[in-house]
Amino acid sequence: MYKQASWDEKLVYELSKPGAVGILVPRSDREVEEAGERCVEKIPPELLRRDLPLPELSEPAVVRHFTRLSQMNMSISTVFYPLGSCTMKYNPAVNNYLAMLDEVAGTHPLQPSETVQGCLEILHGLENCLKEITGMDAFCLSPAAGAHGELVGCLIMRAYHTEKEGKPRSRIIIPDSAHGTNPASAGMAGFDVAVVKTRQDGCVDLEQLEKIVDGDVAGIMLTNPNTVGLFEKDIEEIVKIIHSNDSLLYYDGANLNAIMGLVRPGDMGFDIVHLNLHKTFSTPHGGGGPGAGPVGVVSRLAKYLPPPRIVEKDGLLRLETNEEGVGAVKMFHGNFAVLVRAYSYILSMGGEGLRKAAEYAVLSSNYTLSKMVRIRGVSLPYDTSRPRKHEFVVSLAKLRRETGLGALEVAKRLLDYGFHAPTIYFPLIVEEAFMVEPTETESKEDLDSFIMAFEKVIDECYNNPELVRKAPHNTSVGRVDEAKASHPLTMTPTWRLLKSRER
Ligand SMILES: Cc1ncc(COP(=O)(O)O)c(C=O)c1O
Repeated sequence: MYKQASWDEKLVYELSKPGAVGILVPRSDREVEEAGERCVEKIPPELLRRDLPLPELSEPAVVRHFTRLSQMNMSISTVFYPLGSCTMKYNPAVNNYLAMLDEVAGTHPLQPSETVQGCLEILHGLENCLKEITGMDAFCLSPAAGAHGELVGCLIMRAYHTEKEGKPRSRIIIPDSAHGTNPASAGMAGFDVAVVKTRQDGCVDLEQLEKIVDGDVAGIMLTNPNTVGLFEKDIEEIVKIIHSNDSLLYYDGANLNAIMGLVRPGDMGFDIVHLNLHKTFSTPHGGGGPGAGPVGVVSRLAKYLPPPRIVEKDGLLRLETNEEGVGAVKMFHGNFAVLVRAYSYILSMGGEGLRKAAEYAVLSSNYTLSKMVRIRGVSLPYDTSRPRKHEFVVSLAKLRRETGLGALEVAKRLLDYGFHAPTIYFPLIVEEAFMVEPTETESKEDLDSFIMAFEKVIDECYNNPELVRKAPHNTSVGRVDEAKASHPLTMTPTWRLLKSRER
């Protein structure tokens, strides 16, 4: 089959044709002035760039190139994206529209406070909403992701015990079901990790917890519901054990979508919380793009929060640094546009809307699970009598034993049917883990078509295993070297890469 030339898998530089241009709209003198182009005369000649090898392309070539690139990817705007633990819910366009308003996107973080009262009001309003939702007393918005918030939380634990006891405690307890960022963050903050096991019923082993809690334990990091989708029903007992040792409880907010508006981490007894605004509060994420991991604390820990703190003085909102805090963790106010989108989401949903979102997320999850668990080769680990929360983990270990194919191959084959793959091999405590998080924004029809595609793939595993083993077949990129994708990250400018190819 002939392929259209502009659909060749070429870099935009390789498509370049000397002299090709798009439409150039003539600019007025004022625009030239405003763009600062006359300032060129003031730049010392030795600092001026002489050569800028940009590609030359016609307008249709540019449009086709970038549209084609955008279609090579899967996104929540195009497909069902049940990536467990990531809460890939629909990102309402209105939130984006508001974040792009000139009054918001056109401000500079170094502007004097008096000139950006509206922006500060957005931040202040968001802090107040997050306090209400989590039951915390103070928030800092600057951490850029969940993992970043975890680091801040661990540094707060460190600061708390250092002030009280003259030195930090040395260990943090983390369940074996936890996300990898939890132990990584604890390690980065200088702690050793003590692992507490998951019991047969899928919850933290209280007996073991009691044994490992001692004077060196700074705190515990937990997510509730946990990563197998079960609510930690002994949370009150856990809080008692941890607090009676003057240790702190850290809430990993990645799973807040299951309980938002229903239960608050603060009311459960947690002292420090991070939220993933890019998950629960529907701001776009994926591909390493900007996120936000605000950290909330109970009042006795508020002084340790990183700056800037928003305070009201003489009728104006201002930003202040706090000397006792753990130090700044991000430039300016964090990822401002993400914070605006989250605030817009919270206000447009309202309290009742947020609660409903959590309820529907749990309903979608249990509906999907109830159908998938009946399919051969699939089993549900841990307590089968309790409903899961917003996500669930099934095991494809039986399928692996019977066909030689498991979570990896099924996930890859689902891409051929147009579904983003669920999370696989996490949590580590489940053999051939297959973790599905449908979210509240998917219709029953889309859930049903996913379940049908999954059943079809399982059928293929038994009846046409080679087809599944070599999947995906319909995507622009097939199997990649997964370790290579994240390891040798070489940041070479494209034009230099091309020059080296030419040689
Ligand atoms: C349970 C859990 N905790 C923490 C994180 C880390 O969040 P982030 O990816 O925003 O750093 C994740 C991310 O997927 C997660 O699923």
